[in-house]
Amino acid sequence: MKFSSPSASLLALVSIAAAVPKSRNDGVIRIPLARKSTDVAGHVDMSALSAHLFSVSNKYRQTFSAFEANTGYAHPLSAKMMSSIRERDVPLINQGTELWYGEIDVGTPPQTFNVSIDTGSTDLFLPSVYCVDCEGHNMYHAVLSSTAQDERKGVTLSYGEGEVMGDEYSDDVSLGGYKASSQTFLAANEYSSNFMYPEFQPDGLLGFAFEQISGLKAKSVFETISDSGVLPKSVFSVKLSSTAGESELSIGATNPNLYIEDTLTYTAVTNEGYWQVNLEAVSRGGSTVAGNSASIIDTGTTMIITTDAAAEAYYQDIPGSSNSTQEGMTYYTIPCDTIGLYTPTFSFGGRGFDVSEETFNLGPESEGSSDCVGGIAGRSDIDFWVVGGIFLQNVYTVFDQGNTQVGFAELA
Ligand SMILES: *[C@@H]1O[C@H](CO)[C@@H](O)[C@H](O)[C@H]1NC(C)=O
Ligand SMILES: *[C@@H]1O[C@H](CO)[C@@H](O)[C@H](O)[C@H]1NC(C)=O
Repeated sequence: MKFSSPSASLLALVSIAAAVPKSRNDGVIRIPLARKSTDVAGHVDMSALSAHLFSVSNKYRQTFSAFEANTGYAHPLSAKMMSSIRERDVPLINQGTELWYGEIDVGTPPQTFNVSIDTGSTDLFLPSVYCVDCEGHNMYHAVLSSTAQDERKGVTLSYGEGEVMGDEYSDDVSLGGYKASSQTFLAANEYSSNFMYPEFQPDGLLGFAFEQISGLKAKSVFETISDSGVLPKSVFSVKLSSTAGESELSIGATNPNLYIEDTLTYTAVTNEGYWQVNLEAVSRGGSTVAGNSASIIDTGTTMIITTDAAAEAYYQDIPGSSNSTQEGMTYYTIPCDTIGLYTPTFSFGGRGFDVSEETFNLGPESEGSSDCVGGIAGRSDIDFWVVGGIFLQNVYTVFDQGNTQVGFAELA
């Protein structure tokens, strides 16, 4: 990702958008995005949805463990999840989640990769050219890069979606026109099936959370860039959409065209590691159903996930609602013709942000069903909120590393 003029790089925008060709004339790089593949043939793919809910706890288990290894103390939100006894297998079925991804360049000369943008983890991994399960992906060829360095360390990382094994490398990584020099990452020699192509469309994954939850004990690409002092502001910002051409990641800036300026509201990161903030309230129809809870802002999770009790409290008075639980995961349905009356509002930093019916309603639970799946689900092993794509599609989000705060604004 190179910009031809220095002024363009001051507002480095990586746009992630479906079916729009890459263009450089306006300083914006447009890259394809994701599919909403929880929706198959007009209804929700329930096995994909279950796999997603299931996989979320794997991801948080891994990152909680990394936090404890890196800081010497248990993450305050980890107690419930870490005390649940069974080691769970990662399900090997189509993940089926909405992924937002964009391009990065790695090495000298640059090798280009698509990476999933994940604010719920910190590390970068890519398939190495020695990866046997990575056919269809772009693969990192270290010997072709004059800046590559083999750190001679084997590593395994587990994610919500699966597991990757390989070798730690460092090399130069460019994101939105900015360079992270000697960035530590994992060049994978093995991908679990969830990361194989075409199930997993991007080549690898790029974490945007803090160093404290890095399995590689390394800074994120964004932290490396930010620490080098080149950014106008130590922020990155996203607009996420399922509409083609509308998603965008800005490095070092916000894009004022995408949000309503005077609605931008900041709330402090309460514990560096995740992008963790206080969720002041969740309300529906003017009444509060949950208040003052820890929440994690996670672009790598599709749904909004909370405790069983909070999910139950959300849906319990809704006429015709029902739920089903499998392996600790509970999803809820509301009659499709009334679900629009029961969408949530999330309050952060003193301002409420509405979730639209279009994003809250995942669609009929099965073919021909008149019950539609709601975007808030419950899990028995967490005691916080994971605020994922269903909420984030309704706002412009500013991740302000410099002032350790998160800003939300209404979309323009
Ligand atoms: C990234 O993904 C998009 C859409 O799938 C594709 O058009 C583009 O060529 C990919 N880039 C690379 C480097 O493969
Ligand atoms: C969820 O299921 C339980 C057990 O079937 C039931 O008691 C509860 O009322 C259900 N909640 C909703 C919101 O339907």
